[in-house]
Amino acid sequence: MPSITVVNREGEERSVEADIGLSVMEVIRDNGFDELLALCGGCCSCATCHVFVDEGFKGKLPEMSEDEDDLLDSSDHRKDNSRLSCQIPVSAELDGMRVQIAPED
Ligand code: FES
Repeated sequence: MPSITVVNREGEERSVEADIGLSVMEVIRDNGFDELLALCGGCCSCATCHVFVDEGFKGKLPEMSEDEDDLLDSSDHRKDNSRLSCQIPVSAELDGMRVQIAPED
């Protein structure tokens, strides 16, 4: 099972097992990181699942949809490596990826 390292807003990090078939948002939330609100439950309409992903993994992630791009634009904290974690399905390729929970908007 792939493992993903999650960094919270305090900078503390923890590696968690990530089930293939879940989204990265679900993995983060199900492992007790309650600062990732994921208010819309993963339908790409809230942007409260914003994370920064390892630059080295950007090419392994699915293309960003226009909706995701627009939502990320609404964040004051958007960076080049910003993604909405609900839009990233866990795959074996993501083993070892590090994601940091973005500051709250
Ligand atoms: S959970 Fe709402 S956009 Fe990801």
